[in-house]
Amino acid sequence: MSQGELSGRSALVTGGTAGIGLESARLLAEAGAAVTITGRDVERGEKALAALGLGVRFVAADLSDLESVASLARQCGDVDVLVNNAASFPGASTVDQDPASFERTFDTNVRGAYFLVAAVAPGMLARGSGSIVNVTSMVAFKGVAGASTYSASKAALESLTRTWAAEFGSRHVRVNSVAPGPTATEGVVAEWGDTNEELGRALPLGRTADPREIAEAVLFLASPRSSFVTGSTLHADGGGAAV
Ligand SMILES: NC(=O)c1ccc[n+]([C@@H]2O[C@H](COP(=O)([O-])OP(=O)(O)OC[C@H]3O[C@@H](n4cnc5c(N)ncnc54)[C@H](OP(=O)(O)O)[C@@H]3O)[C@@H](O)[C@H]2O)c1
Repeated sequence: MSQGELSGRSALVTGGTAGIGLESARLLAEAGAAVTITGRDVERGEKALAALGLGVRFVAADLSDLESVASLARQCGDVDVLVNNAASFPGASTVDQDPASFERTFDTNVRGAYFLVAAVAPGMLARGSGSIVNVTSMVAFKGVAGASTYSASKAALESLTRTWAAEFGSRHVRVNSVAPGPTATEGVVAEWGDTNEELGRALPLGRTADPREIAEAVLFLASPRSSFVTGSTLHADGGGAAV
């Protein structure tokens, strides 16, 4: 991506204070976008800003809370690129699933993204341009024991990618998914431990991704380089969904 390719555009990356979101924010800012990142933890947000530089802004928000989602949308104003990346990814077998964790996962990964899009898309539609990138997961396409709630939430977001592409396409707002495979981030290691590396070893490419490799896919779908792509999924998963 050449520098300046996104200059004059504003980008909002939810969960942009760590992992895939942080690297996506970095690439979008390097391409010239005015980037806002979000997360719940203010200290983490400040550390991310120090790491990113490039005039990036942090807004504290909890995607599992509808008032917080509405406040985030108000504070951001016009958004040209929205990356729905923040997520909760608990592991539990179905018979052991705690209902509170089930609700938090759907509230964050589905309801939060849904109402953020509902708040931000009208501006994009009025301006006749915009790109929404939903960060989903390889497990939305595969059965992985212990990932039922998380996988189902990401499958819902995959469905929304297609619906939103149908609803917004006539006014030049594109909507796509990036479906990452196992990626070495602090968050996933804390939640899934060695399981993530095991999943990586089972892929055709035989390893986990670096978050930057996923961010490159996000950047492609966010930018005009993918101008005729909407309603699609880019499987950035080391071949995982193919086997
Ligand atoms: N890493 C993987 O192996 C992998 C694989 C497939 C898909 N993905 C997807 O990729 C995305 C990023 O994952 P990651 O591994 O980069 O995660 P991560 O390193 O744990 O970072 C998660 C980010 O989301 C924020 N966040 C979490 N819950 C939030 C909430 N309720 N409201 C607002 N922000 C919240 C976190 O900040 P705070 O904690 O401060 O809120 C942080 O900025 C997720 O959608 C995940 O499902 C990851």
